[in-house]
Amino acid sequence: MATIVIIRGDGIGPEVVEEGLKVLKAAARKVSLALEFQEALLGGAAIDATGDPLPEETLHRCKQADAILLGAVGGPTWDSHPREKRPEQGILGLRKALQLYANLRPVRLFPSLLEASPLKREVIEGTDFIIFRELTSGLYYGTPRGIDKSGDEERAVDTLSYTTSEIARIARLAFQAAEGRRKKVSSIDKANVLMSSQLWRRVVMHVAQEFPGVTLEHMLVDTCAMQLIRNPCQFDVIVTENMFGDILSDEAGAIAGSIGLLPSASLGGAGGLYEPIHGAAPNIAGTGQANPIGTILSAALLLRYSLKQQQAATTIEAAVEQVLAQGYRTPELEQPGTELVGTQRMGDLITRAVETA
Ligand code: IPM
Ligand code: MG
Repeated sequence: MATIVIIRGDGIGPEVVEEGLKVLKAAARKVSLALEFQEALLGGAAIDATGDPLPEETLHRCKQADAILLGAVGGPTWDSHPREKRPEQGILGLRKALQLYANLRPVRLFPSLLEASPLKREVIEGTDFIIFRELTSGLYYGTPRGIDKSGDEERAVDTLSYTTSEIARIARLAFQAAEGRRKKVSSIDKANVLMSSQLWRRVVMHVAQEFPGVTLEHMLVDTCAMQLIRNPCQFDVIVTENMFGDILSDEAGAIAGSIGLLPSASLGGAGGLYEPIHGAAPNIAGTGQANPIGTILSAALLLRYSLKQQQAATTIEAAVEQVLAQGYRTPELEQPGTELVGTQRMGDLITRAVETA
């Protein structure tokens, strides 16, 4: 029996996870898949309960699990805490401890949401790409790091560091994915300025030799930010450094119509961590307005990648598409002629669509 750790987290996290769990259970029932669930604390909720954003017990449970479904962490309550006692350190620590170096962020448009994007229909129609964000190195983890003071002057340092093997392993996964798609990899860097990007580019070119059927292009991150808006259809697989991937994937969320729609899968080590790409959104927490689709689609990725339940995953994705096609929308996607629903109702509708599929 597969064991899934559920981490509700902070802000809208608990609300969206509740719906993700409902849909996951329905899809598992459908294919007679037995799942065991365990709850664990992370981020702000863990700080409040234990003083630690990544308690030992959470880490232990996650290491034993087949997969983890996570909502979001963070919020103003903990903003003034020192770096190591911030909720975000919980998630960064977990990614690192489980060696989840590959963060997959698929960006696919739902036909019924073409008008919901801030971009014109003719620009976005046909958009279907996946971002491979490196997740356990780069600017998020490099040392030295810190702020020191001399007299009145303070100096802050972050370090962007990559090794050959860290680049090669994420590049390889990106090329493998491209082989099963439209056979194009866009490697995003800032090689005109950064040393880390020069190594990145060199290693990616080397890995590309193992995949003669896949076309590789290099693009500077600033150009990529522009091209995503001008012509998102040109991308198939994007592979990039941790922080560039963080920034570009939020941009991609806007293209799709709402950041609340995008799921992610973090892979590489044992198990896998599945979470929507959005944050804890404290401004709408508790109001029942959050879009649970990013988490629901993350549950689909969990079934696909960690449990190898392709059919159950596809059932969830089709259910989401169906409910959106029927015109149901959470507030951030509301338009004339659509029917406004809250987090829970959206989850119920998708659960029902899974059950009747
Ligand atoms: C994300 C988030 C996280 C990140 C935060 C919450 C630390 O923005 O998953 O994209 O920057 O990786
Ligand atoms: Mg982010």
